[in-house]
Amino acid sequence: MEWPVLLMNIGKESEREPFSPRAGPPVYKETTVNEIPRNIPSIDKLGGAIDSFLELSRRINEGQPQKYWYPLSMPTYGTEEVLQALDSLCSFQTTMGEKTLEFEKRFADHQKSGAAVMVNSGSSADLLMCHLLVDPIQPLLAPGSEVLAPVVTWPTQLWSVMMAGLKLKLVDVDPETLNIDLADLEGSITPNTKALFLVHLMGNPCPMDRIQEIAKKHGLIIIEDCCEALDSTYGGVKVGNFGLCGSYSFFFSHHMTTMEGGMVVCHDEELADRLKMLRAHGWLRNVDNSKFPLDSYNVDPRYAFVDWGLNVRPTELQAGFGLCQLEKLPGFNQRRKLLAERFFTALDRNQYLSFPNVDPKADPCWFALPIMLKTDVPFTRRDITNYLESQGIETRPVVAGNIARHPVARLFPEFKTRTFQGADKIHENGFYMGLSPLFSEGMIDRLLEILQTYLNRFS
Ligand SMILES: Cc1ncc(COP(=O)(O)O)c(C=O)c1O
Repeated sequence: MEWPVLLMNIGKESEREPFSPRAGPPVYKETTVNEIPRNIPSIDKLGGAIDSFLELSRRINEGQPQKYWYPLSMPTYGTEEVLQALDSLCSFQTTMGEKTLEFEKRFADHQKSGAAVMVNSGSSADLLMCHLLVDPIQPLLAPGSEVLAPVVTWPTQLWSVMMAGLKLKLVDVDPETLNIDLADLEGSITPNTKALFLVHLMGNPCPMDRIQEIAKKHGLIIIEDCCEALDSTYGGVKVGNFGLCGSYSFFFSHHMTTMEGGMVVCHDEELADRLKMLRAHGWLRNVDNSKFPLDSYNVDPRYAFVDWGLNVRPTELQAGFGLCQLEKLPGFNQRRKLLAERFFTALDRNQYLSFPNVDPKADPCWFALPIMLKTDVPFTRRDITNYLESQGIETRPVVAGNIARHPVARLFPEFKTRTFQGADKIHENGFYMGLSPLFSEGMIDRLLEILQTYLNRFS
């Protein structure tokens, strides 16, 4: 079955590829995660009803004029995820519980990490990692220690450093890779620099060999924001495993989704337990409590607080989504890689446009399709993105561009200390288009065709 609205404007009927999110090119398998017994007749009927609902909403959308045939993202969940969420609701198991534990375990296995701790967003995952650095139970850094982070990223990465009482020092970004500029990184290190908060932007892994060398030389702790880089590897190792801990986002447009949601991975259960206490009130619950003898305290052990903490817990509905999506993830990411390869190969050595350089040891699992205008091109970023938008292709800046150029920068001295030339280039000449495992090869080809039509104006 085709999904005509997505095929609007992407070529003659005969040239189109059939496209269906469930039966077409996407290769993920239908999942039976977590024992929702679809063979019970009533569950099966419910599943059928949800199938119909999803189909119906698709039909409703098809009936409406769509602004974009090539959007930034598409919903990747289906009946299995909705059944999981309903199962949690109908069994009154809505707050963090067994599904969360199971998802954490399976995610850590998938990631080849020692342990994983689920939270309610990628931003919360970043916040938790920074709070781990200054956790009063066992502080790794003194308050006010300097943490280096790139100026092109999602801003909550930076707010996390500041909200944990650490001193943020911004580092420039290399427009060739969209990742932290190594020369500027080394030049920014002072005796007060204690940690490095990396981001693997757009899924492009940072050059970890060199970064680990620098960190070792200066005694810096590494933490990694992998919110756009789930399943990207460097030297065969998944990003997120190179430092103290790594964060992931399961926001709807990311490699997998739990609607909202996030995860922190780390090397062992001991760190995970500290993250878990910071995740939920500083409470001695859901952790190995044998390490915290309460004999000398006159407290109810069920309500014992051993640390300070936030409340950034996920729900079971999100974890149920996660269990289903994790099974589909290998298929999703195989497709992401294939589609990105098709796009970038066609753009190789383009006269006007470039895409990020990839380190020879890196294998990116692209989050999106980022593009930079080369120097001295006869058009502006706004010209080309306006054209693409007019052709039904959604575009956006590379994450937030240079954050030091946003209005928020007026509030904080950290953003006013210097200029960032690499980040400025990305701010002015960079943009990205979506990449979804539900896109077809035909959509990528049509996208390339439209880009070429625009570029032909200048040759
Ligand atoms: C690099 C990066 N870090 C952190 C986040 C925050 O994730 P969330 O939207 O789940 O809070 C995002 C979100 O897109 C991101 O791209």
